[in-house]
Amino acid sequence: MGIDQFRYDGRRALVVGGASGMGFATAQLLSELGAEVVIMDVLPSANTDATVILMDLRDRASIDAALATCGGPIDALFMCAGVADGSPGIERALFLGQRHLVERAIELGMVPRGSAIGVISSVAGLGWERALPELTPYLDTQSFESGSDWISKHPDKATYSWAKQAFLAYTARQAYPFAKLGIRINAILPGPTDTPLARANAETWLGFAADYREDLGVPAASAEDQAYPLVFLCSGAARHVNGISFVVDAGYVSSGLTGSWDAPFIKSMMGLE
Ligand SMILES: NC(=O)c1ccc[n+]([C@@H]2O[C@H](COP(=O)([O-])OP(=O)(O)OC[C@H]3O[C@@H](n4cnc5c(N)ncnc54)[C@H](O)[C@@H]3O)[C@@H](O)[C@H]2O)c1
Repeated sequence: MGIDQFRYDGRRALVVGGASGMGFATAQLLSELGAEVVIMDVLPSANTDATVILMDLRDRASIDAALATCGGPIDALFMCAGVADGSPGIERALFLGQRHLVERAIELGMVPRGSAIGVISSVAGLGWERALPELTPYLDTQSFESGSDWISKHPDKATYSWAKQAFLAYTARQAYPFAKLGIRINAILPGPTDTPLARANAETWLGFAADYREDLGVPAASAEDQAYPLVFLCSGAARHVNGISFVVDAGYVSSGLTGSWDAPFIKSMMGLE
């Protein structure tokens, strides 16, 4: 046994979307655990322990330039960027740009065997299994551009929940091909989490499951509450965990699913009703 498996000493971590919220907390935790940290974000970061590279996930050239600046190795790659419904280019910020970054970094040999990728999806992505027949043609698009073309032909899919479902389906689907390269990929599905993005969309985001939390006497998650499991999933301690969707929501989804808490729409989100 080795408690050092939870640490990141000697590892280099890239946190995409690390300037704010969960990505910011993830970058801080990684530094505390011994990692050398690089942040990529469209906004500057107040993190003074990390190297910060400005990059816009909606722009392929910007991603490629940021990767060239970053260089390798990337031993742990955290995909934490996010925007809300209505944000222009949402499909690129939430999925296509992040997918391109992952695949380009691997293609360039920057992600060595033994590395891991941690994705932040959302409980809004629940039910991706049921949507898989519809998601597959989108996932089959081979590039940033062909994915964008697909969305321009299916404009109703330029949504938050579609992008979150796509990233969960991608995580599951890439478990095997990435494992062949010695790379793991896992995703967390946060429930409501107190971040600047959630506060800007407070009624829908922080209002979700508020009755459940009030009944339990617990607040919405903090950014740190999400960073801990995400950082664990990319640590050596999770070396046999691959391709999973890990819900971090104080038990709301499980309780709604089983009926121990009255939230029947959870069953319908998952296609079980
Ligand atoms: N906060 C919640 O309640 C909640 C719940 C479920 C899932 N999520 C997801 O968690 C992730 C983190 O969100 P957060 O709540 O910490 O929000 P946040 O706004 O605090 O952090 C998101 C970061 O992504 C960056 N970003 C946005 N667009 C970008 C782009 N085009 N290129 C590069 N960087 C970009 C932002 O600048 C910001 O630093 C997101 O994927 C979000 O969808 C949030």
